[in-house]
Amino acid sequence: MLKGMVSLVTGGASGLGKATVERLIKNGGKVVILDIQATRAKEVANRVGGDIIVSAGCITSENDVKKALDLTKEKFGRLDTLVNCAGYSITHQIYNFNVDAPCQLDDFVKCVNVNTVGTFNVIRLASGLMGKNEPNEDGQRGVIVNTASTVAYEGDIGQAGYAASTAALIGMTLPIARDLSKQGIRVVTIAPGLFDTPLVSYLPPKVIEFLKRLAPFPSRFGKPEEFAHLVTSVVENPMLNGEVIRLDGAMRWFPL
Ligand SMILES: NC(=O)c1ccc[n+]([C@@H]2O[C@H](COP(=O)([O-])OP(=O)(O)OC[C@H]3O[C@@H](n4cnc5c(N)ncnc54)[C@H](O)[C@@H]3O)[C@@H](O)[C@H]2O)c1
Repeated sequence: MLKGMVSLVTGGASGLGKATVERLIKNGGKVVILDIQATRAKEVANRVGGDIIVSAGCITSENDVKKALDLTKEKFGRLDTLVNCAGYSITHQIYNFNVDAPCQLDDFVKCVNVNTVGTFNVIRLASGLMGKNEPNEDGQRGVIVNTASTVAYEGDIGQAGYAASTAALIGMTLPIARDLSKQGIRVVTIAPGLFDTPLVSYLPPKVIEFLKRLAPFPSRFGKPEEFAHLVTSVVENPMLNGEVIRLDGAMRWFPL
């Protein structure tokens, strides 16, 4: 099933997206990476080898996403799987009473714009190409996997923007799965706990050690390969649809 499968992976230049690209290629797939970091994406493509094309662009741009989809069609003829990993995170407490100033509205807007609007933008445009596939014996034409976060359920201090933007992804999973069901396109969202990627590597070592202990077992950050493993499991299991899956070692956030 994974062999020869054509996937578009947003955010494939780093972290969870990069691990997903590596796993898809290792299993004989073909991949288009859509990422704003063109140089990093090309480095990944060169290092991993195989059928990888890079399309530099922003997921919030209609033109950039259309360009990536045109490239997918031109080089590989179709799109079977979309994996949305591109995302952005910033912490901002809603009001700083020490200096009597609210947080920047732009910080909240950027989180929602990239994580929610950007992911929605890629889904709406990619589903057109996916829906033109010949259905398999089950009537399936494609699979969409989104990346939210466990922060959507238990956001901490300063995480209102990130929590809101990823909770929106959780909220839209079922309605989009229902929208696309007649075309045989499944939609599943993964809500990871903490994973060892550049997104979290900036944290001080003491904080990292503390955060690792929030997961009862295994008490460590997830490995990006474990996220990629779940992506391919979702693709391979035809009954998974309209669902959100936590991938977090039973970790639950509590206020720090
Ligand atoms: N790492 C974690 O612990 C963790 C936990 C839960 C959820 N997530 C989510 O998983 C996703 C991937 O996270 P990661 O840890 O791999 O982060 P990362 O920073 O390593 O990778 C994110 C990638 O997305 C790309 N990107 C960002 N904004 C983009 C845009 N507007 N258009 C195109 N590409 C863009 C970046 O260039 C980068 O290559 C994010 O949505 C993140 O919120 C991560």
